[in-house]
Amino acid sequence: MPKNFIHVYDFSQEEILDVLELIRLLKVADKGGRTPRLLDGASLGMIFEEPSTRTRVSFEVAATKLGGHALYLKPGEIHLGERESLADTARVLSRMCDVIVARCWKHETILGLAKHSTVPVINGLTDYNHPTQALCDLFTMREHLPAGKTIHDLKVTFIGDATNVCSSTLFATTLMGMDFTQAAPKAYQAPKAWVEIGRANVARYGGSVTITENVEEAVQEADIIYTDLWWWCGQEAEIPDRRKAFMPRYQVNGQLFSRAPAHCKLMHCLPASRGVEATDEILDSPRSIIFDQAENRLHAEKGILAWLVAPTLKRADGALGQYYADQTRAFLRSRGWDN
Ligand code: CP
Repeated sequence: MPKNFIHVYDFSQEEILDVLELIRLLKVADKGGRTPRLLDGASLGMIFEEPSTRTRVSFEVAATKLGGHALYLKPGEIHLGERESLADTARVLSRMCDVIVARCWKHETILGLAKHSTVPVINGLTDYNHPTQALCDLFTMREHLPAGKTIHDLKVTFIGDATNVCSSTLFATTLMGMDFTQAAPKAYQAPKAWVEIGRANVARYGGSVTITENVEEAVQEADIIYTDLWWWCGQEAEIPDRRKAFMPRYQVNGQLFSRAPAHCKLMHCLPASRGVEATDEILDSPRSIIFDQAENRLHAEKGILAWLVAPTLKRADGALGQYYADQTRAFLRSRGWDN
């Protein structure tokens, strides 16, 4: 099994199914009021080059619930990229923390951290992909399966720009053997390289990859309609062109949703630009599962941390733990400490 969680396609379908089951067990335990302290005493170093609500909060809360602790490390407040190289930052964090989570502008940055780190590195979103979101999304889809379907035969239609969430959805759904469709104007469709990765999954696991401009047809058999922002930080100058390309045909609204099967659900990774890529009418409707999806980021992060990090932690429980405690106390007492 890979040491890091950088791309979903680094893992087999069987490994992803295992972690989905682990997420389910941890969600049940959490709802029951007792998350196992699998990360007792562990430290999570979290580098965020971009803003985040869900990824930051879910990892921080997940670390605490598992008995560990998370540090929020913001460029400008740590030396990364200014007075210290990426490699040295990775080496130093590896000496002090048990895992590194990073949200990076550039995918090369997460690859560099992973290369120089000796502890697991988890990708909290880059300009290429968002694998922790994708894992959470598979888990959420499994919780909302239509009658008679399994996770392997869902039809997922992603409407909108070829974002990092679009790439991860393409990779994750095809890894499960699902039918994936992206509906978008030509200029905003998934590049060939992503489609090739998806088709390699299809060759192994079944399913399909379709990229189309025909959004009306793309929703007709969809079990899930997924959408994402039409622009992100740094794309402000492109907003007029993007709005013109997507609006009104690719907006997820009541009219478009009425073309989908009655059981079809809406997913959105959030944050949403309400009234832009999707309307309130749909985002707040019973067909929307966006807040189950958001909550599941927490359960997914617990699963990822338990899966990747817990097995790497050294434990000196029992007699050895007592020996260390006694030895340290004896030394301090010998120096006059009388507690
Ligand atoms: N979906 C997601 O990654 O949200 P944040 O940007 O708030 O972390």
